[in-house]
Parts: sequence; structure tokens; C-alpha cells
Amino acid sequence: MGARIIGTGSYLPEKTVTNEDLTRIVETSDEWIVKRTGIRTRHLLERDEAPADMGVAAGKAALRAAGLSPEDVDLLVVATNFPDMICPGSAPFVSSGLGLDERPFFYLKAGCSGFVYGLAVAGGLIDAGLYRHVLVVGMEALSRVTDWDDRKTCVLFGDGAGAALLGPGGDGEGILGSSIRGDAGKAMLLHLPAGGTRTPASHETVDAGGHYLKMEGSGVYRSAVPMMETATREALAAASLTLSDVDWLIPHQANIRIIESLVRRLKFDPNRVVVNLDRVANTSTASIPIALDEALRDGRITSGEVVVLTAFGAGATYGAVVVRI
Ligand code: ACO
Repeated sequence: MGARIIGTGSYLPEKTVTNEDLTRIVETSDEWIVKRTGIRTRHLLERDEAPADMGVAAGKAALRAAGLSPEDVDLLVVATNFPDMICPGSAPFVSSGLGLDERPFFYLKAGCSGFVYGLAVAGGLIDAGLYRHVLVVGMEALSRVTDWDDRKTCVLFGDGAGAALLGPGGDGEGILGSSIRGDAGKAMLLHLPAGGTRTPASHETVDAGGHYLKMEGSGVYRSAVPMMETATREALAAASLTLSDVDWLIPHQANIRIIESLVRRLKFDPNRVVVNLDRVANTSTASIPIALDEALRDGRITSGEVVVLTAFGAGATYGAVVVRI
């Protein structure tokens, strides 16, 4: 039994922050940000909004799109890197917000590749006959771990959530192939040094800014393209397909230059690439499900088309999933 996507949803916080707004916080310019990243604006949570609220909104939209109710969900997987609380994570809050009662849930942390990992894992669980309907939510509140004095990172990120409900599919439907990979040697390219069990939070760690995300931007940049290229080719091989069979490519929305370089290396048609980072910036684990949901809702991606979702992120993790919609 295969697994197919039967409904998607997404949520972006109401508040938007433009590049121009950021020039009032750090020394930067709209021109620099657009030229180096392609980002123009991003959505950010207000102080009184909880990250899990975004996951709940995206999950509800996915259930509506599938025409199913919370009782139909057998398992919830919440992919996020910065949960509402280190313990118990975000999944129980998303579960209760969705009214999933005593359904099992877990939280999956795999950098910005979390949603791609989540689809591969959920697809495998359905394929094995363990669950019928699995809701995979990708949500991220990067604004809560961003150093708003660091212009090298604060211009890059946005908040948001996306979700996909998976259910049983027939032959040649749904998830056709996947490749998930890791490169632990690159773990420190993107990390948050304090607040975990290795370096618990203390006055000293807070004074040193250890609770903010640190990124070695050029190292991430150099790794991202070969990682997504490898994963895309491997996932297509697993699906016994080639790039000429692919209708749409949805890469992780981190930087337009990374996406353009990937598309050149794959010799893929740039008009068949879903890009929304100009409006939403890098929403980490949420980036792919938000882009997928938008492209389905506006009718760009239609039933029967083959889509490749590919991501890279902290860990370092990377991966790709090939799906027939
Ligand atoms: N505004 C103006 N100038 C800036 C800014 C800014 N916001 N940020 C950096 N600069 C300056 C730097 O200080 C540097 O100045 P210097 O030469 O005087 O030292 C100069 O611009 C060039 O900086 P670089 O870091 O070399 O710029 P680069 O072209 O590499 O672009 C960027 C930086 C956009 C971060 C790029 O490296 C990148 O996109 N990397 C990948 C990031 C990424 O994908 N991260 C997320 C992956 S994981 C996840 O999604 C959570």
C-alpha cells in the first residue's frame, strides 16, 4: 500500500515585516537583501501568539481540504526545530488544538529538512500498514530564536506552518520515492549553543546570546546545492523516474541564489519551480509545505502531476521526496 497526500494547509502570521522595516533595526538595505537572498518581506508572530497555534491552523486547513475530521487522524507528526517548549515539545499542543484526543504524536527535529523527513517517515508507516491517516505538520517560529541585532541572520527568516494529511494510495500514486540523508560533520554550520542539556540556560549564556541561532552562512550556502541535487536524483531513481517526468520542483525556500543554482545544475525548467521566499522568507521546516499548499490552492499544481520536494538544513540534514499529486 502506498501513501498519498489527501489534503494540505498552511498558515502565516498576520504581521508582516518588510526589508525597509529591518533597516530601522540593523544596518542593511532592501537592495542588499533582495540581491543576496531574493527576500522582500516576511510574516512574524506577535509576542502573544504561540508557535503551536500556527501548526493547529495549518493542520485544520489540511483536514478541511481532505474533507476529513480529527477522528480520522491516526498519528500526528510535528516537524519543528524550535518547539514551544523543550519539554514537551510542540506536538501535544498541536494535538490538543486540533482535538486529536488520545491519538499518538511525536516531534521530529531534522533541520529545515524536517517536513521532507516527516513525509518519508509517515509514508513508510502507512506503507507498512501501521497507520491509515497521518498528519504531518511543519512549523517554525524562527523569530523567537533570531538575534535581532545580527544583520547576517535576522534578514533571512520568517515564521509559518504548513501541513499535509497522508492517507493510503494505490500503485503509482502519492509518494513514489524518497531519499533522506545526513552529514553530521556539518552540524555546527547552524546551531543554537545554549539552553539544551549540554549547556543549560544560565545568566551567562543569556548574556552571551547563546539562546540565538548561529549560522555560518557561506558554509551552508556551499553545501545546500550539492545536497539537494544528490537527494533529488536519488529520490527520482528510487521512483524509477527521471527529471523529464517531473512537473514541479519545490525546493526549500532559503535563498533565491541557492534555488537558481540548483535549477541550473539539474537543467530543470525555471518556470516549473515554486518560489515564494520573496513573500515569506526562510520559514525552515514550514517552507516546503507552505509553498506546496499555495501552489495547490492557486491551481498551479494539478492532480496527477509529479512534484519533487527537496530540502537541506541544520544537522546537516537533506532529502527529497517525489510525489504524484
Ligand atoms: N545587510 C547588509 N550587509 C550585510 C548583511 C545585511 N543584512 N548581512 C551581511 N552583510 C555583509 C557582511 O557583513 C559582509 O560584509 P564584509 O564583506 O564587509 O564582511 C558582506 O555583506 C558579505 O557577506 P557574506 O556573508 O559573504 O554574504 P553572502 O553573499 O554569502 O550572503 C547569505 C549571505 C545570504 C547569508 C548567504 O550566505 C546565504 O544565503 N547562505 C545560506 C543561508 C541559508 O540557507 N540558511 C538557512 C539554512 S538552514 C535553515 O533554513 C534554518
